[in-house]
Amino acid sequence: MEIPTPFHRIHGTVRGLDSAGRSSQFEGRFGRMFRALPAATFSPAALHDLAGKITAEPEPPTEVTPETDADDEENAGPDRKHPAISAGYTYWGQFIDHDLTFDPASSLQKTDDPDALVDFRTPRFDLDNIYGRGPDDQPYMYADDGVRLRLGRQLTGNKRDSLSRDLPRTAAGRAIIGDPRNDENVIVSQLQATFLRFHNRVADVLKARTPDDFAEVQRTVRWHYQWAVVNDFLKTIIGETLLKEILPHLAQNGSIVNFPPNLRFYKPRKESFIPVEFSVAAYRFGHSMVRPQYRLNEITPEQEGHPEGKVDPRLPIFSSDGSLSLVGFKEFPSTWAVDWSLFFDMGDAPEFGKKRVQPAYKIDTSLVNPLGKLPDSVIGGAAFPALAERNLLRGLRMQLPSGQAVACAMGIPVIPDEQLRVGKANEEDFEKNPLLVSISKEFEGNAPLWYYVLAESQLAFKNDKTPIRLGPVGGRIVGEVFVGLMLHDSHSVLSQGKCWKPRQDFLGKTGNFGIAELIAQALKAKDVV
Ligand code: HEM
Repeated sequence: MEIPTPFHRIHGTVRGLDSAGRSSQFEGRFGRMFRALPAATFSPAALHDLAGKITAEPEPPTEVTPETDADDEENAGPDRKHPAISAGYTYWGQFIDHDLTFDPASSLQKTDDPDALVDFRTPRFDLDNIYGRGPDDQPYMYADDGVRLRLGRQLTGNKRDSLSRDLPRTAAGRAIIGDPRNDENVIVSQLQATFLRFHNRVADVLKARTPDDFAEVQRTVRWHYQWAVVNDFLKTIIGETLLKEILPHLAQNGSIVNFPPNLRFYKPRKESFIPVEFSVAAYRFGHSMVRPQYRLNEITPEQEGHPEGKVDPRLPIFSSDGSLSLVGFKEFPSTWAVDWSLFFDMGDAPEFGKKRVQPAYKIDTSLVNPLGKLPDSVIGGAAFPALAERNLLRGLRMQLPSGQAVACAMGIPVIPDEQLRVGKANEEDFEKNPLLVSISKEFEGNAPLWYYVLAESQLAFKNDKTPIRLGPVGGRIVGEVFVGLMLHDSHSVLSQGKCWKPRQDFLGKTGNFGIAELIAQALKAKDVV
């Protein structure tokens, strides 16, 4: 029996067996970065056991009082002050993934040939998840002027933003957007709504009025987004040093023409493609950053009218009571407007308490317990409900090489088996975490690539005190693919906008344009319904 894959119900099961060379607006290709390396093999039983160890135990409930406003457990104790990537990057990462890749067709039960798989997203940072097929083809996503994007109902709860809006939805609650996956959870769905508003803000400042103005607004939005992806997202996830190795002009403060990019492993010959080493392994690092619960805004249970405020203001990502979780694909309570200052450093948050920026969980070989049982809304009731197991099986079916083989092919020292452990990257837990090879001998010198990328980050945490980022293998794959995709897109800011800079009036206090500045502008957009 063919196991349905996630989101199968949205796009059907069109299999791109004969379409590798075809190119239409919405299709790209998958392929391999390390063609010469042999596939790593494992038994599904060993992967099942490894997934079980990667999936953490449920966290004990913590009481929230006005005094303590209890923090999440992982960041309590000795690690509490460990610098972290903020929680918003998790969902920005997911949003970017949905801009680049969509494989609704491959199977978890049989081997897949990536060269024959169609990517149902353009492999470009072109925000096709926002624009869909554009105002001519999908006019119902656009306002009457044919330029601005339509928004949904009013949301409340975010004290910093009186114009928060949901995505436009059908009567049944399904979001009317360019990529249905951007309604998968309440956070990514509100990030999508914020990008819609950023587009509208750019339309405001460019004084766009007619459909003829659309292309210029769209280009301006895309270049600001791409600038933020390189200079903020990528810098945060792979670190400044590696980013500057890949893009030396950033280190030299010079032109990309005089200091060309240094892509050592991602070298598409003609059209760009999404390497499976990226989509099935390295870029799934974000799964380990997911927290079990989030605070969306500062609304307290008392304000919500709950007796004595006995309801936890932090919402779980999944719960058996679907109405009280962040699971998407439906209308959620209108008081759930996301306050982005609780997700990104917008410059004025305290270190502790309910106004702090929530940290993402560390990039390590541990996924929070709720990801051990994905709800039907995410996987359509398919087999293998544990995300870790799906990732590992997908790597097996796509015939990925082992982490060690990829490290070796990159000329990067291979992590010895005695340092590969499974579990949370807490200082005190590290030595107690089981060795990978203790789970199965199949893993001796042979670690699944997704696991290996996470383990690298975990080791970096042991060795220094900077926020956990991707390590040398994971960082290179993600960094080179991001930069390579932008270079191969003849319309991108790196290709066409070599001397382009973000608008002066969009820059933050530090003179940068990143996600905080993008959100700040989005919040200034005139309202569109
Ligand atoms: C609550 C948050 C998330 C959930 C529930 C989730 C769930 C999933 C699921 C069910 C899949 C398909 C797994 C399979 O069958 O192979 C998937 C794929 C994927 N996820 Fe996530 N994910 C989340 C967040 C993220 C984040 C934060 C990132 C990266 C920063 C990410 C990156 C990816 C990538 C690259 C794929 C493969 C996509 C493709 O090729 O179509 N995910 N995710």
